[in-house]
Amino acid sequence: MRVSTLFMTRVLAPLSQGVSHRAKLYIQLICLAVTVLIGVADYLAGRDITLAFIYAAPISVAAWFTGPAAGLLLALLSVVLWISGDIAIGLYSGVLITTINGVCRLGFYSVLALALARLGELQRIVERRAEYRAQALARETAERERLEQDMIEISEREQRRIGRDLHDSLCQHLTGTALAGQALVESLLAAQRPEALKARKLVQLVEESIGVARGMAKGLHPVEMEADGLMRALEEFAGTTSEIFGIRCQFLCHVPVLVRPPAAATHLYRIAQEAVHNAIKHGHAQEIRILLDESESGTGLVISDDGEGFPDPLPDNGGMGLRIMADRAKMIGGRFTIARNADHGMELICWLPASPTQREVLYV
Ligand SMILES: Nc1ncnc2c1ncn2[C@@H]1O[C@H](COP(=O)(O)OP(=O)(O)OP(=O)(O)O)[C@@H](O)[C@H]1O
Ligand SMILES: [Mg+2]
Repeated sequence: MRVSTLFMTRVLAPLSQGVSHRAKLYIQLICLAVTVLIGVADYLAGRDITLAFIYAAPISVAAWFTGPAAGLLLALLSVVLWISGDIAIGLYSGVLITTINGVCRLGFYSVLALALARLGELQRIVERRAEYRAQALARETAERERLEQDMIEISEREQRRIGRDLHDSLCQHLTGTALAGQALVESLLAAQRPEALKARKLVQLVEESIGVARGMAKGLHPVEMEADGLMRALEEFAGTTSEIFGIRCQFLCHVPVLVRPPAAATHLYRIAQEAVHNAIKHGHAQEIRILLDESESGTGLVISDDGEGFPDPLPDNGGMGLRIMADRAKMIGGRFTIARNADHGMELICWLPASPTQREVLYV
């Protein structure tokens, strides 16, 4: 039972998928030829050896692959060949006995053919359903990935727009206010009025606000459109990170790396930003290195830290940073890996092949 089930599911089922009409015809002809050969062999084997069960093989194959009709026809042919062989070697035992034997054998072969034909059909239906579901699942996954990437791209665009607006409207407005305040300070000083000190303080506060607004605009729109924008943005980011968090965040770039297109540079910048924030927030790193390097084969961004490394197991806190970094890398046709460092901390690598053909750009 076990062997037959294995035979059907492992051997016959895969073979039976997608059998064309022409292939069916070939199978039927081959099974017919095999049945005739078995009939001849049965006759040659004489009265001592019976090949009755061997007829079942071509009947089963024909029924499984091509349906019940072929199986039943072969069953009938097998019985005819068997009876003719027996008569030819002198084993004829009267009409009644021969008819009873023939009907029994025909019944057995027919049940076998019908059962196998039905099983084959069911197997094909199950296979087709599984294939259909797998395709639907693949389509859904692709759609979900596309939506995620759209979301990232839209939020990136919106951030850049807000950054630009902040820079072009609020910063300009505050700069105008500071200039007007400076003019007021000068006229108060000229009139030797004591309010001049308070007015100067006010101008200072406005200038500080300009600094804050500029910083925010920069954070929202970090990478300039020039090809060397990423180098400059990462250098500045490493500097401010060291300053704000009181750690050592270094940017290393041994050769000038010019990243094109600007969208790719922005994605790489965001990956570095998230990796550094993770290293500080989760790894409590004291030293972080951001390495940007380029060779003939591509551009590499490596962020390594000396923190505590991934906890084991990873907490299921719904964090999205790692997934978004991987999505960003995929969007620009890059490869993304993150792993524990040999001694301590983590090392994240985003590799962007130089040749566009090696990049599987999904959406830039
Ligand atoms: N450099 C790192 N050092 C130590 N642990 C890390 C590091 N980077 C990531 N992790 C671990 O991986 C988990 C998932 O990080 P991920 O950036 O996806 O989510 P998150 O930072 O918790 O939340 P989110 O990024 O959505 O604000 C973190 O909770 C942390 O445990
Ligand atoms: Mg994170």
